[in-house]
Amino acid sequence: MLKFYLNAEFCKLNGFVNYNTMGFYKLTVNGQLHSVEADPDTPLLWVLRDNLGLTGTKFSCGIAQCGACTVQINGDPVRSCVMPVSSAINSKIVTIEGLSIANSHPVQKAWIEEQVPQCGYCHSGQIMAAAALLEKNANPSDEEIHNGMRGVLCRCGTYPRVMKAIRKASAKISKS
Ligand code: FES
Ligand code: FES
Repeated sequence: MLKFYLNAEFCKLNGFVNYNTMGFYKLTVNGQLHSVEADPDTPLLWVLRDNLGLTGTKFSCGIAQCGACTVQINGDPVRSCVMPVSSAINSKIVTIEGLSIANSHPVQKAWIEEQVPQCGYCHSGQIMAAAALLEKNANPSDEEIHNGMRGVLCRCGTYPRVMKAIRKASAKISKS
């Protein structure tokens, strides 16, 4: 069966009432331009996972409370479970899959060296938040680390190892 969707812009230009809210959105994710079809209110998280197959970003609370879904948008950590896809156009989106080639980012290296994860569920969000923090402040104080990371919860209580790994990554970044 032929499916025909009218996107919002087409309807506006042609004076049509748009009963179908699906539209096409161009997103730049991990350096690649994608065109995705979605409702404008669809959370970016679902577009990343379901449309683009980038399942490294996790769903947990779905209400901006836990940070498991954190990605970077224009360098800032953002909770993708509550960001509508229509707000993510014209932005540079980075997910855990695009943070580095072969886990070579200093934060990822430190995470491996310190064996940070327990169940691991929260850690793509933790790593994306930590990398964003160090990008803006390569040598944060403990208080700045706490403040920068407090939006990402860990039910397994890996916080001491998260702290240690961020300090380690910070030392490496500051030296280079
Ligand atoms: S899943 Fe987005 S903040 Fe919890
Ligand atoms: S390692 Fe299990 S939730 Fe963080």
